[in-house]
Amino acid sequence: MSRIAVVPGSFDPVTLGHLDVIRRAAGIFDQVHVLVVHNPGKNAMLPITERVALIQKSIDEDPEMPDNILVASWSVGLLVDYCTEVGASVLVKGIRSQIDVSYETPMVLMNRSLANVETVFMLPDPQHAHVSSTLVRQVASLGGDVSPYVPAAVGRFLDKTRPA
Ligand code: PNS
Repeated sequence: MSRIAVVPGSFDPVTLGHLDVIRRAAGIFDQVHVLVVHNPGKNAMLPITERVALIQKSIDEDPEMPDNILVASWSVGLLVDYCTEVGASVLVKGIRSQIDVSYETPMVLMNRSLANVETVFMLPDPQHAHVSSTLVRQVASLGGDVSPYVPAAVGRFLDKTRPA
């Protein structure tokens, strides 16, 4: 039986920390779906289609990325509905700190209760422990250099869209 894992998130934008977790998940599961999901609790910077395109470009440009990764988006229902639709029984979440564990725990229990979908926590390389999309957006909006924290495709995109 082929094991499909879903790596869900806002990815607004995708960071090197996300890519690290995606790469690790792809080394464990047969297939990994990176799923851009609308988070109603957050004000998005990028449209979902742009986030998907940037993840795809970042994966395509990373020579160390395995080829069992698919990028998709989901905005019509529960995350577990997507899992059911594609036959995935596992979610993978990147965890940087105890704060992430506290934030994720109710969602882990809810997704298990809703559809018996389990969640696996993965730690990225510690060099990415302080990197979040929220801080990347903030640093970029204030004119800071985000190139150490994001894939080159995201860096190019943010440079292109930076107000003159
Ligand atoms: O990158 P984020 O913003 O931390 O990702 C959060 C996300 C998108 C994974 C979370 O908001 C989510 O799971 N949304 C799906 C909505 C859903 O299914 N909710 C009910 C079960 S928790």
